[in-house]
Amino acid sequence: MDNFGHFDDASREYVITRPDTPWPWINYMGTEDFFSLISNTAGGYCFCRDAKFRRILRYRYNGVPMDAGGRYYYIKDGDTVWNPGWKPCKTALDFYECRHGMGYTKIVGQKNGLKAEVTFFVPIGHRCEVHKVKITNTGSSKKQFKLYSFAEWCLWNASTDMENFQRNLSTGEVEIEGSVIYHKTEYRERRDHYAFYGVNRPFDGYDTDRETFIGMYNGFEAPQQVLAGTSGNTRAHGWSPIASHRFDLELGAGESTELVFVLGYVENPQEEKFVAPAVINKKRALAMLEAFSTVEKADKAFAELRAFWDNLLGRFNVSSDVPELDRTVNIWNQYQCMITFFFSRSASYFESGIGRGMGFRDSNQDLAGIVHMIPDRARQRIIDIASTQFPDGGCYHQYQPLTKRGNNDIGGGFNDDPLWLIFGTVAYIRETGDFGILNEPVPFDNKPGTEVSLLYHLKISFRHVTDNLGPHDLPLIGRADWNDCLNLNCFSWNPDDSFQTTENKTEGTKAESLMIAGLFVAQGRDFAELLQRIGDKDAEGVKEAVKAMESAVKQHGWDGEWFLRAYDYYGNKIGSRECEEGKIFIESQGWCTMARIGADEGLCDKALDSTVKHLECEQGIVLNTPAYSKYIYEYGEISSYPEGYKENAGIFCHNNPWVIIGEAMAGRRDDAWRHYCKITPAFTKDQTLRKVEPYVFCQMVAGKDAAKPGEGKNSWLTGTAAWTWKAVSESILGIKPQFDGLLIEPCIPLQYGTYRVHRKFRDAVYELEIKYSGKKGGFYIPYKPGVQKLTVEL
Ligand code: BGC
Ligand code: NOJ
Repeated sequence: MDNFGHFDDASREYVITRPDTPWPWINYMGTEDFFSLISNTAGGYCFCRDAKFRRILRYRYNGVPMDAGGRYYYIKDGDTVWNPGWKPCKTALDFYECRHGMGYTKIVGQKNGLKAEVTFFVPIGHRCEVHKVKITNTGSSKKQFKLYSFAEWCLWNASTDMENFQRNLSTGEVEIEGSVIYHKTEYRERRDHYAFYGVNRPFDGYDTDRETFIGMYNGFEAPQQVLAGTSGNTRAHGWSPIASHRFDLELGAGESTELVFVLGYVENPQEEKFVAPAVINKKRALAMLEAFSTVEKADKAFAELRAFWDNLLGRFNVSSDVPELDRTVNIWNQYQCMITFFFSRSASYFESGIGRGMGFRDSNQDLAGIVHMIPDRARQRIIDIASTQFPDGGCYHQYQPLTKRGNNDIGGGFNDDPLWLIFGTVAYIRETGDFGILNEPVPFDNKPGTEVSLLYHLKISFRHVTDNLGPHDLPLIGRADWNDCLNLNCFSWNPDDSFQTTENKTEGTKAESLMIAGLFVAQGRDFAELLQRIGDKDAEGVKEAVKAMESAVKQHGWDGEWFLRAYDYYGNKIGSRECEEGKIFIESQGWCTMARIGADEGLCDKALDSTVKHLECEQGIVLNTPAYSKYIYEYGEISSYPEGYKENAGIFCHNNPWVIIGEAMAGRRDDAWRHYCKITPAFTKDQTLRKVEPYVFCQMVAGKDAAKPGEGKNSWLTGTAAWTWKAVSESILGIKPQFDGLLIEPCIPLQYGTYRVHRKFRDAVYELEIKYSGKKGGFYIPYKPGVQKLTVEL
């Protein structure tokens, strides 16, 4: 079995030791509003705030080979041309290593006695990437060689950049001044922003015209200027603007040299745009370059970035007998939660950054993974999301981060959406104790003057379900519930229709969702507790509605051995033993067992047994079984996927934690643990089969019916991050934030039952020694600021 790398927990890094990973293994950089994606060969791109509208580097999708475009450094040493990250030249290296760390990536390449170390990071407080390039002559004699930088500009709008060539090929504009190349396409008209790529020493040559640099018939692997050891010293006019610097270097034996490159983005107020006709105001760019004008300054910024992550990741740590558990909890899971919070589902190597903004349901769920690290930003996010809601409690499915306005680009009318606002807000208040957020004025659809309290938004979110009940008193599904592909009111035979946005039938629909029913009961309980805690009289009404839903589920949602999934438009069952395919689904087992519906009558245990029996496979729990083998007109997108993929019987990792939590609530610790280990990448044995990064969760792993069960896809941007965090931190390790304290209630196999947890909670620090031998009930610690050392025996 090939191995492509290993964890270095002390440095919080994943070390990739071969560049030809089965798929580009990427990392993210950025903490505020300037973000980058970077692969293990330095491919990828960056943007400011919005991956669609403010794209800085051009990236080619569907390229062959894939992952074309990035920040490439070329070294021309005699006749050999190579890149520290192997690509694009793919010259065999004497040594290669890529270390993906927290918000930075270090790539080291060595060839013929030259060693190049490139540290890429996005510093705190600046809108730029810093690339620190260190080259060492490791040989015993003097060496002369050339170093080239290279980046290709995107013409800002990542979508039209790929489409509107009749215009694009004429708009490109640059300026070159000092060691800096400025990209100013469209700056002459309405844009108030430009990008730049500069370096802290004078260059020996440059190019900004792609054709001159690369050559009309060459690719990134053979730029003609690099092959010739020259530069065209070109100024781009239209066509494809790029930025490349050349340095003619000489190093004695054992000598090193270091350069600091800055790839940045600047916005200028309208009145400060120009310093002379057509000459951009470079003041802000120069200030940013000045901030990284020496290696010492760059190192200091790097140290600040490390401190930022040390601080965040220092809020929750476990020390157990299972290294895979510790590294997942202490490092990679929390890191991935931060990334999903920043990016929602917009930009990854499976998401183009063009189609999808911040999802209403996705972003609410993401909160559960980060409230303990960045509560202030969580607060703002809640307000932003709630501001896109409609007065009837419904909402847009997504909003664009640049404008914060909701849009219908990927549909609306998903009837689970509103409940996630309760989920996110409760998670936030339990962590912070900030009940004040409930009084914040929040508008509808971002319309000034329509403000009501956030609490009111939560109330209409809850009511949106009770206002939309179907014939069995179960929630109407709307366009879909959490499973965006169960499109029960869609009915499309036209391949040009989008399943997500095609007009739905609303009249006469009987389509109801057991997933929403379970979610409603679980969230309703939390909501009632919150209302009671703040003395709101609506608590009773909420409890009654929850009770009514529970009886509706017991009466119409139980199939004998498990919970039904849904009723379709005609009122026929989905996820029932009576069905030919799709007899059982994971979502309703997860939510109804988390809601403990019918637990006293044994329904939860039965549903969990059935989940294990029918849905669990070697790499996790599949979404449904048997997979749909043909397109079903009345079900929609779910049956559009081949068997074993995505929503059609893939292992949708996102909802595995629902079952883990359900198992833990039922006290089934060995089952909960097994499910956790199966989807957690640190336990991955076969990196080639998994294909995607072994340090982050993926949305989907191909299920048992797929051609290659176990193959991972859609890594990084998935609700799996937040949900697994919730499952492991609260249900397995048992650290459960409450409105006024922490409840310690583990559910972990007894052989791992002794462990230590360091948990910052509001202004308190809990140093816990946990000794779990299976006792039920938990141990409650009221919140009190200060340090508390406790041994908890259960
Ligand atoms: C995907 C879903 C996703 C939906 C909305 C579908 O094609 O399979 O996972 O939620 O699109 O973007
Ligand atoms: C991914 C989407 O981002 C999420 O909103 C949805 O719940 C799942 N796919 C399942 O369809």
